[in-house]
Amino acid sequence: MKSTELRLEGEAPFRILQLSDCHLLERAGQTLMGVDTELSLREVLRHLLSHPLWPPELILLTGDLVQDPFEDSYRRLRHIMDNLAVPWVCLPGNHDSPALMDAILCRHESHCARRILFPPWQLVCLDSHKENSHQGHLSRKELDFLAQSLTAGDGRPALIALHHPPVPVGSAWMDTMRLDNGEEFLALLSDFSQVKAVIFGHVHQTFSTHHQSTPLWSVPSTCFQFKPHSETFALDSLPPGWRWLELHPDGKIETRVERLENPPAGLDFHSEGY
Ligand SMILES: [Fe+2]
Repeated sequence: MKSTELRLEGEAPFRILQLSDCHLLERAGQTLMGVDTELSLREVLRHLLSHPLWPPELILLTGDLVQDPFEDSYRRLRHIMDNLAVPWVCLPGNHDSPALMDAILCRHESHCARRILFPPWQLVCLDSHKENSHQGHLSRKELDFLAQSLTAGDGRPALIALHHPPVPVGSAWMDTMRLDNGEEFLALLSDFSQVKAVIFGHVHQTFSTHHQSTPLWSVPSTCFQFKPHSETFALDSLPPGWRWLELHPDGKIETRVERLENPPAGLDFHSEGY
């Protein structure tokens, strides 16, 4: 992925809307687990357009933007996001193609910015995509980029985003697909007390824990959800959701997960995997 910086201005607190795991399919109207994933994303956005916190200063998409790497899926996503007229950035998940994201989502734009600066805060977006694997991995280059970004931040508060959870979330099948060098990532964070939180997607459910004093937070998917604490693949009946993060100049974060009122139409509980 390209490595670029994006500078944003805004009134405090700086509001980020995290969306994740949209899993757009090859063609509009197709379904996965019985769900029209694009329609589900559009319903989430339609709801958010009349939300009291709209517009955020930034929308952050934390990976699995598409189910399979088709150019048209990324084109449709770009069209949906650009129509919102809100700055947005994205990072890759296991289902994504970083090369196609560079070519279609990020060409001539800052949508794949890796370091987003909004003083005094910085957001560092990491690429945990591992070729031909659903597991995640942070390469030496990514870890060095993170350390350099935090060092350059000179103690200013930082939020870190990536697709894969760096710790187990308590679902055996999902935990085989977490970040394979999560311990190395968390050990690096231990040297930087300015990191105020780590946020990720991938798990299609709400999960929260701590590494030392640093919170680690997941977000629901914009389409179908996975049942927490399940040994094997299992869908949950919860509605699509998102996370709000309000970053205050003193380093404090206010955050909450919200959901639509109803689960997506067509959800097929007989699905055996994805
Ligand atoms: Fe994923």
